[in-house]
This record gives sequence, structure tokens and C-alpha cells, in this order.
Amino acid sequence: MLNNITILGIESSCDDTSAAIIRDGYLLSNVTASQQVHEEYGGVVPELASRAHQQNILPTVDAAIKRAGISLSDISAVACTLGPGLMGSLLVGISFAKGLCVSLGRPLISVNHLQGHVLAHFIQEQGAERPVPDFPFLCLLVSGGNSQIVKVNSYKDMEIIGRTIDDAAGETIDKCSKFMGLGYPGGPIIDRLARQGNSKAFTFNKPHIPGFDYSFSGLKTSFLYTLRDKLAEDSDFIEKNKADLAASLERTVVEVLIDKLSKAVKATGIRRVAVAGGVSANTALRNAFIARQRSGTWQTFIPPFGYTTDNAAMIAIAGYFKYQDNDFCDLETPPFSRISI
Ligand code: KG4
Repeated sequence: MLNNITILGIESSCDDTSAAIIRDGYLLSNVTASQQVHEEYGGVVPELASRAHQQNILPTVDAAIKRAGISLSDISAVACTLGPGLMGSLLVGISFAKGLCVSLGRPLISVNHLQGHVLAHFIQEQGAERPVPDFPFLCLLVSGGNSQIVKVNSYKDMEIIGRTIDDAAGETIDKCSKFMGLGYPGGPIIDRLARQGNSKAFTFNKPHIPGFDYSFSGLKTSFLYTLRDKLAEDSDFIEKNKADLAASLERTVVEVLIDKLSKAVKATGIRRVAVAGGVSANTALRNAFIARQRSGTWQTFIPPFGYTTDNAAMIAIAGYFKYQDNDFCDLETPPFSRISI
């Protein structure tokens, strides 16, 4: 294995501008500038996101380099997110990365954002080393835009064996939170409320679709119709029941996710199971994984909270593996708003 490989990772696919330094698989720094500007709109506004990335990218990269205690000339390659994501946001990150590569005379590495989420499980921190999954393993990738079961054969060979046919788990939670008039993003709000509620208080429809695919649109409608019917009887229904509603919604989403994942484990015989993406921060989902680990059913891999949502450390670690394969890209490479794992 080569030594002193120092990768600068840049992530800008949505509303977080992030830069990280990984040296020989170990994280030296990970700096993220989040954008509050979207809160009042109840969702990410693409044009505002790309403008904020332009303001944030230079100070964020500068801070990551300083915190890592390295200088620009120590960087072996720059890895940046290729997609999927918002085109204007992606363009800021990839253009900045290209400029830096030209000025430093270093290669550019493009990273699929979704592969980055999966590979976050391989980031090591000095003095806090964590066990990493052996190949092959299954990864439940759950974010605002994706709900997939991925069979991970190697660092670069990943196969989607199940995916949502309509809404993603995170999107569903965010929408239901919006129906209740709570803030954005709904995931952390629902998680917090659910801790004080009764998860058996309400029953919502679960999907019945074949294979390892997911569907969440029926659950979303069922949640909406429950609110509509109960509000007709009592206009204070949401205020009086928001913790129970959050807990029941969370339980249903987690049951749907885990049921299909269990089916995939049985069918493939692969018992090493990881979870990744923004929704992997969810308490009930993490607890479901911990319960399976304790019962000896699965060997589970749960990311530290800092690697659940979008971050550049995951882009840098993916870049680190690609660097060792000489897997570089040319400077004409454009970003892609839609791209599969
Ligand atoms: O991976 P991510 O940061 O961004 C992309 O979608 O790429 O995921 C964001 C999603 C949002 O839907 C957010 O509500 C959800 O992750 N999320 C959570 C929690 N924290 C974030 N969902 C449930 N519980 C949480 N604690």
C-alpha cells in the first residue's frame, strides 16, 4: 500500500458545502458549512444553494487544510462529487476542484455521492479506529432522495438489489412533518418528537410490493388522510397528538425498511449489514440495527452521526481508494444531476 496519500475531498451536491482531508485512510479534518437560508422556504431552493456554495467554498476548503495541519503542496489529488445532486451546486464544487488541480498540477478524482455514503464506513480516525465491513456486505442507503438496498462487492463494485419505486424514506418523513406544520428538514424534528410519543398509537398503511423494492407513497397518503379525518373531528388534533403521530410514523417507516432488508439478508445469505445516508441518523432505525447485532442475527455497521448527512470525508475516502487504482478523470468531465450508484 502506498504511503502519504493525501486527498482533499469536496462535497457540494445539495445544501452543504464540505471539505475534508484524508491521509492514508485516516481523517485529518472535515469542515461543513450548512445553509440556513432554505429553512423559511420549507425545502432547498437550488438557486440559493449554488450562490451559498460560491460564498462558502473557499473558506471551507481553506479551513479544512488549516485544521488538517497540511499545506496545499501536500495534496496528492482532489476528489469531488460528480453527482447525483443539484446541477448548480455540483458545478460549484467540481469547478473549484478542477481549478485547484490545474494550479497544483494534481489529478482530479470524481466520486459518486451515493458510493461516498456507502464508503463512509471505511473512514478511520486516529485513536478511535472502528471495525470495517468485509466484502460483500449489504448497505441500506436511506436519504432524502434515495431508499436502496445495495450489495457492496468491493470499493467500486456496488449493485442495487432493491430501491424505492416512488418516494424515498427521508422525503416521506419530511413531507409528513410538513403536513403537521412542523419545520424543515422534518427528519430530526420527527426523531425528537417520537422519543416522547407512543409508537403504537396510530396505524398507517404499509406497502405490499414484491422483491426487495420499497414504496412510501401509500404511507404518506395514509398519514395525510388520518390527519384530515381527525382534524374534521378536532381542530387541535395535531397539537394534542404530535408526539404519538411522530412515533407511529417513525415506527412504520423503520418496520418497512427493516422488513425488506431482512428479506434481502435471507435471500443473499449476507449477514454483514450497514446503514448509510441522512436517515441513518434516526434513533429508531439505529436501535433496530443495534437489536439485530445484539441478538446475533446480523453483524451491523452504523456510521458515526457526523458521517450520516452529506460530508466531504466520505468523498475523500472514496477518492483515496480510487487514487490507489489510478482512477482519475479528465478536466472536461461534467457533473451529473442524475446518476446511479
Ligand atoms: O443524506 P442526506 O443528508 O441528504 C440527501 O438526501 O442526499 O439526507 C437528508 C434526509 C432528510 O430527508 C432528513 O429529514 C433525513 O435525512 N434525516 C433524518 C434524520 N436526520 C436527517 N430522518 C430521520 N431521522 C433523523 N434523525
